[in-house]
Amino acid sequence: MRKNIVAGNWKMNLDYEQGLSLFSEIVNMVKDEVVGDQEVVVCSPAIHLHSLHQLTNSNKVSVGAQNIYQAESGAYTGEVSAAQVRSTGAEYVILGHSERRAYFAETDEVLAEKVNLALKNSLKPIFCIGETKDQREQGEFFNVIQEQLEKGVFHLSASEFAKIVLAYEPVWAIGTGLTASPEQAQEVHAFIRKSIAKAYNSDVAEATTILYGGSCNPTNAKELFSQTDIDGGLIGGASLKSRDFLDIVKVFNT
Ligand code: PGA
Repeated sequence: MRKNIVAGNWKMNLDYEQGLSLFSEIVNMVKDEVVGDQEVVVCSPAIHLHSLHQLTNSNKVSVGAQNIYQAESGAYTGEVSAAQVRSTGAEYVILGHSERRAYFAETDEVLAEKVNLALKNSLKPIFCIGETKDQREQGEFFNVIQEQLEKGVFHLSASEFAKIVLAYEPVWAIGTGLTASPEQAQEVHAFIRKSIAKAYNSDVAEATTILYGGSCNPTNAKELFSQTDIDGGLIGGASLKSRDFLDIVKVFNT
């Protein structure tokens, strides 16, 4: 069956020492407190990746990046490639986050290239999709999500797609304290799973981990994660506090 994952997205927070110290706390707490088979991923700024990977002493905690560039290597000052990220020991990379789509003008086409490069370099993409407030209010959200899936990941073969984790993150819920209700989130997650079944087949759809992201916290995580098609979360703000993050992870303790 599909894996439950709780992934933290530190965004552009924490200096080098602060990152190491938070990660050490997380690794120790996971060792002491996590009893299920949920996977914990921490997506840090690139400066932390190698050191965090070295602190990972439990196979329950993995490290991920927040972006890669859409070329293998070359004269792209300031960018980081998939191969470079992989060489730190990181296993995951967030792609298509709404902040990258909005502030860095990342298009579906560019994101498809990034997905290909991630997979080619043995990085597992956590591919983010989700509608803006306007798109929700106009009732366009299913179309928006369908298009993001078609252009970003549905070009993959079934065996490639099996390596993808999806994250539904309604843009209006990110960092706003406004969470999608469990019913709203479940409705979209079920739609995404149906759409995967149409593009591939129902076995592929049932095996895909689909995370919810957007103002997820220790108070609302339990109800969200208990929905049939929600397999975990992508956590921003609450991943910067070890206690909050672990309480979210522990929703899957059985
Ligand atoms: P948030 O961020 O939990 O702070 O809303 C989620 C995300 O951007 O992945």
